[in-house]
Amino acid sequence: MSVQQAGREQWGTRIGLVLAMAGNAVGLGNFLRFPVQAAQNGGGTFMIPYFISFILLGIPLMWIEWGVGRLGGRHGHSTVPGMFDVLTDRKKKWAKYFGILGVVMPLIVFIYYTYVASWMLGFSFFSLTGRYFGLGDDVAARAEGVRSFLVNYQNIHDSTGTGGFVPVLFFAATMIFLGWILARGIRGGIEKLALYGVPMLFLFAIVLLVRIMTLPEAAATPAEGLDFIWNPEWSSLGNARVWVAAAGQIFFTLSVGMGSIQTYASYLRRKDDVTLTGLSTAATNEFAEVVLGGTIAIPAAVVFFGVTGAMAIARNGSFDLGIVAMGTVIGEIAGSQLWGFLWFFLLFIAGITSCVALASPTMAFLQEEVGLTRKRAAQAVTALGIGLGMFHVVFYRWGVLDEWDYWAGTFGLVVFAAIEIFLFAWIFGIDRGWDELHQGADLRMPGFYKPVMKWVTPVFLAVLLVWWGWTEARPKLMMEGVPEENVPYLLVARLIMTLMLLVGVVFIRRSWQRRAAAAAAGKPGA
Ligand code: TRP
Ligand code: TRP
Repeated sequence: MSVQQAGREQWGTRIGLVLAMAGNAVGLGNFLRFPVQAAQNGGGTFMIPYFISFILLGIPLMWIEWGVGRLGGRHGHSTVPGMFDVLTDRKKKWAKYFGILGVVMPLIVFIYYTYVASWMLGFSFFSLTGRYFGLGDDVAARAEGVRSFLVNYQNIHDSTGTGGFVPVLFFAATMIFLGWILARGIRGGIEKLALYGVPMLFLFAIVLLVRIMTLPEAAATPAEGLDFIWNPEWSSLGNARVWVAAAGQIFFTLSVGMGSIQTYASYLRRKDDVTLTGLSTAATNEFAEVVLGGTIAIPAAVVFFGVTGAMAIARNGSFDLGIVAMGTVIGEIAGSQLWGFLWFFLLFIAGITSCVALASPTMAFLQEEVGLTRKRAAQAVTALGIGLGMFHVVFYRWGVLDEWDYWAGTFGLVVFAAIEIFLFAWIFGIDRGWDELHQGADLRMPGFYKPVMKWVTPVFLAVLLVWWGWTEARPKLMMEGVPEENVPYLLVARLIMTLMLLVGVVFIRRSWQRRAAAAAAGKPGA
């Protein structure tokens, strides 16, 4: 059964693998989502639930997903349905159908995440041309100028400004570029992109960090900015919302609970280490998040808008901070064109190295379970991406993108992770699982992770599911507080997600029937 199938793709080098996995994890979430979450949820104190979630959710899930991916690869499966089938020794028919979440969720996130990444390409371009700088007489007015520029860009129904076909053009260009990378495969496409992109991203971020930290005092000093984001607010520790936010950020930033780490790990060789390498990529992500992500955007906003101003910005969310506030700040410093390009291009690279990871489960699924060639699969992903993407590009204003983001990119991760850890620690069995992870390992996992994986992480996930499900997902599902005119758009968004799941289920059924028929005919391939 466990034949290493001939012709399976593999990573070229260990450094290439580590950079690709780091590129997977390090994304817009590190530079935009993290600082907003930290500033909104208790500043320095946020780091306590954040690190506890890292140790009890992030690390164990990271190891499990690397291990499950490598195990699946050994049995010829690069996507979660096949991996779940293997975890149940192919005895539980239902398991593979749950696995479809690990293909459809990353595909949905891929589609909207690519759109957000394409804004960064657009803003890199408009930085070089200086389009959004100096639109007003004082800082506050110039910030309003950047905001209306952004709103105009996002509003494709108005072609008087940069709206209309411009954002569609950047979106389509980004999709086509990604399709080209995907068609080149794991080693020739994704690994190469990471080898050039990830070091460049870190370099840009460090240069920017130094620039922000050495800014002269304006409304405040950079030190006051650091003080603002890291100043502990002890009372927030008793707030359940803060804990949920911390756990949610750990999921999102490490890319766990999705299915994409498993696909990347399926291209490992049987004896390749997963424990040390998995931990290293998690640590690299945390460096990029806490040190780089935590030190750029918020302190920069504090310097020019003061503490109250920055607080108001952080409350408005990731895009206000990363695009409006950072765009304004950059407009205030000498060499705006260059700094603007560095910032937005850094975000673009962080985005696309995550996009290819989000697309790879679908790429593998189309090849292994549907039977397309790699090139056809890449064309299909590009076409699906542009086709379905147009739905939230055109209906952005009615909250379609946020609807995708909530179900497939936030709440769904916890649901998926709960199923996954149950199958790994309870059905496959923690003892077998523990041995599996230690095959070829360069690092012995601390012994306490065994009870953590069996008890603590599942209980933590269950509590999160119930708490989060009741306080947030339930009202969301009932569309409480949603403006009347958004409802039809959100219903269609949900219908599309449901249809994607159903199509996935049909493909799995067909593929397994084909395998069974092949096995019955005595051919290898099961
Ligand atoms: N980790 C990415 C970020 O921080 C976002 C993300 C979540 C992701 N899940 C993923 C990226 C799966 C690739 C694959 O922005
Ligand atoms: N829900 C995100 C927030 O924290 C917004 C968002 C959607 C986002 N997609 C993203 C943020 C990708 C960062 C990266 O506001």
